[in-house]
Amino acid sequence: MNQTIFEEELTQLKDQCLYRRLKTLQPAGPVRALWQGRETLLFCGNDYLGLSRHPRVLQASKKALERFGTGAGAARLISGTSTLHTALEEKLAKIKKKERALVFSAGYLANLGVLTALAGADDLIVMDKLCHAALIDGARLAGARLRVFPHRNYARCDEILQQENVPGKKILVTDTVFSMDGDLADFQEIVRLKKTYGCLWIADDAHGTGVFGQQGGGALEDTGLEPAADVITGTLSKALGALGGFAAASATLIDYLINKARPFIFATALPPVLCAAGLEALQVVQEEPELRYALWRNIQRMHEFLKAGGWALEPLASPILPLVVGAEGDALALSERLLERGFLVPAIRYPTVPKGKARLRITLSAAHTPEDIARFTACLAEEKARKG
Ligand SMILES: Cc1ncc(COP(=O)(O)O)c(C=O)c1O
Repeated sequence: MNQTIFEEELTQLKDQCLYRRLKTLQPAGPVRALWQGRETLLFCGNDYLGLSRHPRVLQASKKALERFGTGAGAARLISGTSTLHTALEEKLAKIKKKERALVFSAGYLANLGVLTALAGADDLIVMDKLCHAALIDGARLAGARLRVFPHRNYARCDEILQQENVPGKKILVTDTVFSMDGDLADFQEIVRLKKTYGCLWIADDAHGTGVFGQQGGGALEDTGLEPAADVITGTLSKALGALGGFAAASATLIDYLINKARPFIFATALPPVLCAAGLEALQVVQEEPELRYALWRNIQRMHEFLKAGGWALEPLASPILPLVVGAEGDALALSERLLERGFLVPAIRYPTVPKGKARLRITLSAAHTPEDIARFTACLAEEKARKG
């Protein structure tokens, strides 16, 4: 087939500063890598606690690798469930204060699985405009009626829920921590709406798990509102440093997902070695709270430096700090200048964020040192001064 139409579209993306290309790095730690032979500091990953290389996590993974090999062999309904899947699910259920949990091969697939299984053509899904693509895609694939409300505008959400009459369920869907803005949903408001309209509430705690809560249990842990969430989804790929998704819910809903969630039924299971990594990471989260304290000190430090540097910032809420630059070309140029100077911070552009709201998405980890943060913010200040 003639590929001109694809080439033309790629050219258009380049013209609009929306073209994406891969950068090959040689990782050298949770927040360090070699790029084109030079040491580069990473302010872009979601390995918030540095657990991808924690000695305990590595050791547990090596042990599982020796015993279980690299792959799961098939989907779990075909080739059985390993003891590590069961152990991880029991741990996740406990942490999320739910009866059961189910592990998927990625957080994206967990959301896709939950939404397509629990929603159908008769149902209404209402979600925040800034919800993650996994939730949007899940809602679309479910074939439900989808209504979106402006970011954190719960009065509008209320209106939608009042206006819409569907034969089936009303489902409220939200990220707990918004992945590109770093702010949190208003859980009290969501619970109020859930109660008023008898909604099912699905909360995606991808960026909350391991980061928030006395025990690192997630963004809902200290609110006491975990029981109100019918399903809490999440991932092992961010603060837990590995890969794999999960849903935690009542025994009935998990049983339903096992029977209905297509990404669970039709995709090869998460390799046991990753279950071991996730399980040990959860243990470390609980037993080494100092990692979480170090992360929050770093977030505070970065926030203070940036504020002092005159950057417009939202109140500190999570390890995700967006520096909204505006034009796509400007965000891309700044990101490239920073990379030349030894810092990898991605320019996040449309369609990930709205047009004209391109940004640098800075993320912090417990693995950053105070010097890393000072060096980075000094460089940013120079770039800001240079641009005038
Ligand atoms: C809010 C949110 N949900 C789900 C996902 C998907 O998780 P995973 O990367 O494990 O597939 C992400 C990460 O990309 C995310 O930010």
